[in-house]
Amino acid sequence: MGSEEKKISEEIEQLRSEIRIHNEHYYLRDNPVISDAEYDRLFRRLQELEAKYPELITPDSPTQQVGAHPERQFSSVQHAQPMLSLNNVFSEQELVDFDLRIRKILGKDHIEYLAEPKMDGLAISLLYVRGELRVAATRGDGRTGENVTGNVRTISSIPGRLLVGNPPESIEIRGEIYMNKADFQELNRRQSLAGEKLFANPRNAAAGSLRQLDPAVTARRPLSMMCYGIGAVQGGPKFQRQDEILDYLAECGFNVNELRSVESDISGCMAYFRRIEQQRAQLPYDIDGAVYKVNSLDLQNELGTLSRAPRWAIAHKFPAEEAVTEVRSIDVQVGRTGVLTPVARLLPVTVGGVTVSNATLHNQDELNRKDIRIGDTVVVRRAGDVIPEVVRVVLEKRQEGSRPFSILERFPNCPVCGSPVRQVEGEVAIRCSGGLKCPAQIKQRLWHFASRKAMDIDGMGEKLISQLVDSGRLKRFSDIYRLKERDLMDMDRMAEKSAQNIYESIQNSRKVSLSRFIYALGIPQVGEATAHALSQHFCSLDRLISADLESLTKVPDIGPVVAAEIRQFFDDSDNRKDIDTLVEKLNIQEPESDSKAVDS
Ligand code: IVH
Repeated sequence: MGSEEKKISEEIEQLRSEIRIHNEHYYLRDNPVISDAEYDRLFRRLQELEAKYPELITPDSPTQQVGAHPERQFSSVQHAQPMLSLNNVFSEQELVDFDLRIRKILGKDHIEYLAEPKMDGLAISLLYVRGELRVAATRGDGRTGENVTGNVRTISSIPGRLLVGNPPESIEIRGEIYMNKADFQELNRRQSLAGEKLFANPRNAAAGSLRQLDPAVTARRPLSMMCYGIGAVQGGPKFQRQDEILDYLAECGFNVNELRSVESDISGCMAYFRRIEQQRAQLPYDIDGAVYKVNSLDLQNELGTLSRAPRWAIAHKFPAEEAVTEVRSIDVQVGRTGVLTPVARLLPVTVGGVTVSNATLHNQDELNRKDIRIGDTVVVRRAGDVIPEVVRVVLEKRQEGSRPFSILERFPNCPVCGSPVRQVEGEVAIRCSGGLKCPAQIKQRLWHFASRKAMDIDGMGEKLISQLVDSGRLKRFSDIYRLKERDLMDMDRMAEKSAQNIYESIQNSRKVSLSRFIYALGIPQVGEATAHALSQHFCSLDRLISADLESLTKVPDIGPVVAAEIRQFFDDSDNRKDIDTLVEKLNIQEPESDSKAVDS
């Protein structure tokens, strides 16, 4: 072996062992340590070298396999037809090359494709025998997966029985298990309240939820499935095209992507890609690109499959939404209940086309878990319209002498009002003790009070509230209803017409439902749903205010912690004074009840 070839062979081995480690983190631990983009770079470099030096390809190379080997705890299931992966492209040029390659093999001018979003979840295979769900298995290494049937049976969008008459003798249904973005946020909120670990993204949450050994845990997790194809089939209808398969799956009772579309050639696929890229942030679930499949099943067969991916399909991925940058400092923001949220100030970096210079660090527990320090090089991620997050620290680049960051040590006093900062025993949150003396808390509380789902005062945004507080015109909620048009007009860059409109919105907001009013008060841990439940249960503000802990815990979904927060809020004399004034100024609509006689 020449020295050049030896070097290549060493690089290949190095790449393979790195990729194997990352496969294990990704597939087995649901805890990737590098970004998808970094992983793709490693993988592509390996593919490139192996293409150049085919004599160095070995059957155990990650390029010849799909994923890592399945975990032990679940029993194994052999897929009747292997579950393949997809090759990726990242640019229109690479996509054109893909189309050209297959048109050459098939001798065609243009090819019809079925285009659909690439769901960012985890692959699943469902075996139905004579219409009944028998086995559900993860992808595993592509040939053998984990038996997760008990868990899959808890997912409501998966039918236990195919909804068609005369179902096939047996059929493998393929698709993606995922979690909606809103469900993911809610799950993390619950995890955080229960002091459990937070999931990094909806994909990890879906994977972690599906691979629970106890199906009762999975049942409490909001999982869904989107179907995109079939594996081995015996009997049943004969299909000519991919889109027919998808229509059939929809008839069987599965979710099939509504955004699927038949495109008459590759330029149609490009236009499709741009369309879904536009829609991406508004979609209820995460996608990481588009998938195009040759629509004719005969042509799919003719093209065939390479060892790990079919030749007739390709994934067109969005540009990386992750980037590497540096933490310049760590600040804290004071929220409406006084909680200090650490924020990383970053060296500005472009992530998926947007400049990011701040990232939330959530709380001290998350800071400790990720061990983020000032001066660290970090990977940041921006997912849709969510606030950017630090995914992990690049430890190899950590500077000597750096120290773990402690909020309490760095900020013994609130950076806004100077009051001492406290951590209640057993709580993650660190709070400013200034209460209504702290302008940050006042501003955040007022902003929440005026927000759309609360009192819905159009035009009362963060900037205006900040100016009104700083000029001494606003402090309590009730002060809003003392404002004159003149007060508003005195504010910076406020036109007469805008001041009139805002003044009118304030007047219009006086008539409000009890449920919105309770939500607007911003009682810690009382969100919209809890506010609604309280309003329905007590039907009157007076009754709610005088409810004791025992009667509060009788309200559905209210436990002792939330009940204590509610009691504490109404026991505060400042809060009570403000509410009394508000009651005089507002027209609070209480729900009708037969007797209004709940025990309080
Ligand atoms: S087709 C033979 N279609 O992406 C074709 N896969 O990177 C196999 N995925 O393992 C897959 N959305 O878990 C296909 N619309 C879609 C998909 C999709 C997401 C996942 C799937 C697959 C992985 C490959």
